[in-house]
Amino acid sequence: MMIKADLLIHSAAQVVTCASIMPKRGEAMQDVGMIADGAVVVKDGRILSIGPTESIRQQYSAPQTIDASGKVICPGFVDPHTHVVYAGERIGEFEQRIRGATYLEIMAAGGGIVSTMRATRQASVVELVEATLPRLAQMLRLGTTTVEVKTGYGLDLDSELKMLQAIAALDLAQPIDLVPTFMPAHAVPPEFNGRSDAYVEWVTNEMIPAAADWYRSSHFAEAGRPFFCDVFCEQNAFDLAQSRRVLEAGLVHGLLPKIHADEFTPLGGVGLAVELGATSVDHLDVTTPEDVAKLADSDVVGIVLPAVNFNLGSHEFADARALIDAGAAIALSTDINPGSAPCPSQPLVMAIATRYQQLLPAEAMNAATINAAFGVGLADTVGSLDPGKQADLLLLNCTDYRQLAYQFGGNLVDGVVKNGRLLPLVTNI
Ligand code: NIG
Ligand code: FE
Repeated sequence: MMIKADLLIHSAAQVVTCASIMPKRGEAMQDVGMIADGAVVVKDGRILSIGPTESIRQQYSAPQTIDASGKVICPGFVDPHTHVVYAGERIGEFEQRIRGATYLEIMAAGGGIVSTMRATRQASVVELVEATLPRLAQMLRLGTTTVEVKTGYGLDLDSELKMLQAIAALDLAQPIDLVPTFMPAHAVPPEFNGRSDAYVEWVTNEMIPAAADWYRSSHFAEAGRPFFCDVFCEQNAFDLAQSRRVLEAGLVHGLLPKIHADEFTPLGGVGLAVELGATSVDHLDVTTPEDVAKLADSDVVGIVLPAVNFNLGSHEFADARALIDAGAAIALSTDINPGSAPCPSQPLVMAIATRYQQLLPAEAMNAATINAAFGVGLADTVGSLDPGKQADLLLLNCTDYRQLAYQFGGNLVDGVVKNGRLLPLVTNI
């Protein structure tokens, strides 16, 4: 008896599952779970079965079939750290940096995050949605099917809530699943200049409770999608004690901790992340060997963002090789934002990670899929091709998945299946 499904994709040169019930670590990072001449069966938007084409075709039939000969099938990418919702661009700062100014100098002079804050405060929810939709369309075209999105360009109560509303509207308006993160402690806003403790008090006493209220009545809570709280633990942003206050207040209200740590200055954010049981600790550019060991010993996912270093023209990258070798669960992310990483592409991030962080293509693949899903608390539904998970998968125009990291500057994504549906994709990017 043939089992009836909705969609059967067969004859793929490789099916790469990235399957794992735990974040991949160490040697397991080199295993992408490959099936040669593979097939994937989809029913009700979920993966029903995966296996060699011959055995799958003997067991399943479907009204829609796709011949994937000459192609690779892999999970849709999960981008676990983004600031994709914003108004305005910062091309002037890009030129300032080319002329020699540093990111931190521009930030200290009132540019950087605060300049995007000014534009974002002026934008309406609709304007924020309209500015962000093309960026998400581009990410989808490049294979990303789940995206974490942070607030943090509002930096006052109304503007931060406006960003949350934009994230909710965007989640409903386009195919990528969004995961909201509240990040009012992204920078100290100008009205609190020199009074960062007072701002932190406002964040913990007023903003976080208001965000928790928003979440409770949002469709995200109903869908069981998590809600995170993040803080920029950095010189001229928030010190370790302030970061702790923010994340602990988040926890009290049900927001799960994430932290920007060790991007430019090692302030001890890894220890805080481990102590609080954070879902992820992100950046890790200047993490000390002691903190590498601490992270490796924990369940916290380390998210590295090499498009930032690349964009800032740096020759120094997070030592993701050492982190993986120490046993840490490492994920990759674009960090797409108008300042430190105007980059929508997980494949480009993989290309950078393989060259400057000595990740193997297999490690980069797992880091952009299953480990990234763990980094946003969604590994039970996305990040790998596993029966029961959402059918979010890519058809790649190549016969070896390693091409994804080997090539750069183009786009190998030939088709995106989201929740079991083959999407029509914008091609003019
Ligand atoms: O992750 N580090 C802080 N936040 C972002 C940069 C945001 C911006 O420059 O607008 C980051 O790099
Ligand atoms: Fe960031």
